[in-house]
Amino acid sequence: MLNDMSTKLISTRSRPINIDYNKLPQHIAIIMDGNGRWAKQQGLPRIEGHLQGVNALKEILRACKNWGIRTLTVYAFSTENWGRPLTEVSFLMNLFERFIKQELEEMQQEGVCLKFIGDLSALPLSLQQVIEHSMAITQHNQGINFNVAINYGGRDEIVKACRSIAEKVARQELLPETINADLISQHLDTANNSDPDLLIRTSGEMRLSNFLLWQIAYTEIYVTDTFWPDFAPKQLEKAIVHYQKRDRRFGKIK
Ligand code: IPE
Ligand code: IPE
Ligand code: MG
Repeated sequence: MLNDMSTKLISTRSRPINIDYNKLPQHIAIIMDGNGRWAKQQGLPRIEGHLQGVNALKEILRACKNWGIRTLTVYAFSTENWGRPLTEVSFLMNLFERFIKQELEEMQQEGVCLKFIGDLSALPLSLQQVIEHSMAITQHNQGINFNVAINYGGRDEIVKACRSIAEKVARQELLPETINADLISQHLDTANNSDPDLLIRTSGEMRLSNFLLWQIAYTEIYVTDTFWPDFAPKQLEKAIVHYQKRDRRFGKIK
């Protein structure tokens, strides 16, 4: 009991005081961009940027969990990223597999509910197996929902949802007039999550690059010039403080 209390006190104390914990974004989505440019800036090969990017991700996941964020969704590999040189693509696939294997035990202890979104069927078989195992053993965890988008494209996800709805209509399980926005949301990979409240993109690019196109209809967007490997909890804190100053009107007036 005493032990429980002291850990609680420590983790509460490590929460930044600038954040209003009654107005936390429930769901944060991140486009983790700029690994290559970070490496170039240091005179290192691009893959070093990806390695450093994994460390940044671990810190951000931990911070999100400790600060009380319900869901974190990160963009790790897009449907367009297959167009990169084979050496980089293979390196990334290996890195994803290693990351899951190395971090699974700790994520399990921390109560992380791990989910992968995207078309996983195109990934190397060994990666698919590791993914399946990690999702199965963490599925009931309550600490934080952690979604990793691999071979993910917003358009691809909407196409898959349309196909699945059309099949249900063809089998007469669904009437066309019952198709609405909620039903479409339920057929996306993010079916059980609320839409992101805050979308962060690192490295200064002002575009979505095919990420969560349907889900971000009313998401607040925050772009920082910081490259992903340098994006630390301090930067996340800044993004959340910015978010908390926004006036979310949802098309209405006061
Ligand atoms: C993001 O960093 C990681 C992936 C897309 C896998 P980049 O690799 O896109 O880095 P930059 O944009 O070239 O700097
Ligand atoms: C988006 O970054 C994809 C990921 C971060 C995984 P990219 O680097 O692929 O996007 P573009 O090419 O700059 O649009
Ligand atoms: Mg990039």
